[in-house]
Amino acid sequence: MRLKGKVALITGAANGIGFAAAELFAKEGCSVALVDFDSEVGEEKAKSLSEMSEGKVSFFQGDVAERSSVDSFVKRVREHFGKIDILINNAGITRDGMIHKLSSEDFQKVLDVNLTGVFNCTQAVLPYLIENGKGKIINTSSVSGVYGNVGQTNYAATKAAVVGMTKTWAKELGRKGINVNAVAPGFTETSMVASVPENVIQQMKAMIPLGRLGKPDDIAKAYLYLASDDSDYVNGTVLHVDGGIMM
Ligand code: CAA
Ligand code: NAI
Repeated sequence: MRLKGKVALITGAANGIGFAAAELFAKEGCSVALVDFDSEVGEEKAKSLSEMSEGKVSFFQGDVAERSSVDSFVKRVREHFGKIDILINNAGITRDGMIHKLSSEDFQKVLDVNLTGVFNCTQAVLPYLIENGKGKIINTSSVSGVYGNVGQTNYAATKAAVVGMTKTWAKELGRKGINVNAVAPGFTETSMVASVPENVIQQMKAMIPLGRLGKPDDIAKAYLYLASDDSDYVNGTVLHVDGGIMM
């Protein structure tokens, strides 16, 4: 078991990649705090995971974009589990539109969740990682942030910014025993991709050397590596898990 005795807080864990990570981490002996604003699905999934896991698994409702909400759920997670070792900043949204049609509201909303949300959660969890003298922060970027993508001005901006924050925090926090890395998934089969027009999906698939979209578990396994002791000397990296879509 690669995460036995550890406690992970995973945001956006009710669905998609975040839930796949919660499931995998629980199998690896980790206690997991699933955080999401979707409490109906989150509560139910945490309950089913909890029944099959060695560690504790619990759901915490919250909105990463709201600082007061973040402070509240981070405090409750710390009280419930007694410590926090791993933070996965996975929650994210899209509001796609071509630049000439993108509204200011849709631009700002994506910044609030994908960028400010990562800042909020990291700043709130950090004191607990520092008190352990060791910790892992994993941020979720995207192929769109690294290479750009039609219709994703707002989203690509946030996912590029996540890379900048990851490298900055890797430099600031390394001496405190905290590793900060990012995962940049390619197109992955979750509800986020479900709204992408079929012709765009086919276009993307044709560009992927491995010939298929990612599965949530493909990304969860990268989170696991970066959360485990196996990656203790990996810091400030961006791990591309995208089937080789762009090289
Ligand atoms: N690559 C190349 N061309 C694209 C494209 C893409 N990814 N997406 C759209 N286009 C093209 C369309 O084929 C169309 O071409 P023509 O004018 O020649 O017909 C043109 O751009 C305009 O597209 P639409 O007619 O669809 O314009 P619209 O204003 O109705 O919609 C859009 C624009 C909302 C961006 C829509 O095209 C769309 O949803 N595109 C997909 C965006 C996308 O890839 N999102 C990724 C979501 S998943 C995710 O974000 C996870 C992650 O990290 C990767
Ligand atoms: P998803 O839509 O399946 O799941 C995202 C989860 O985040 C949902 O449960 C949602 O309720 C939650 N969430 C959204 N906003 C929130 C907020 N403000 N506070 C708390 N929870 C919130 O999406 P998916 O695909 O699992 O995405 C996970 C991460 O991976 C995101 O950061 C996304 O940008 C990134 N990503 C996804 C890719 C894909 O193709 N699916 C590709 C590259 C990156």
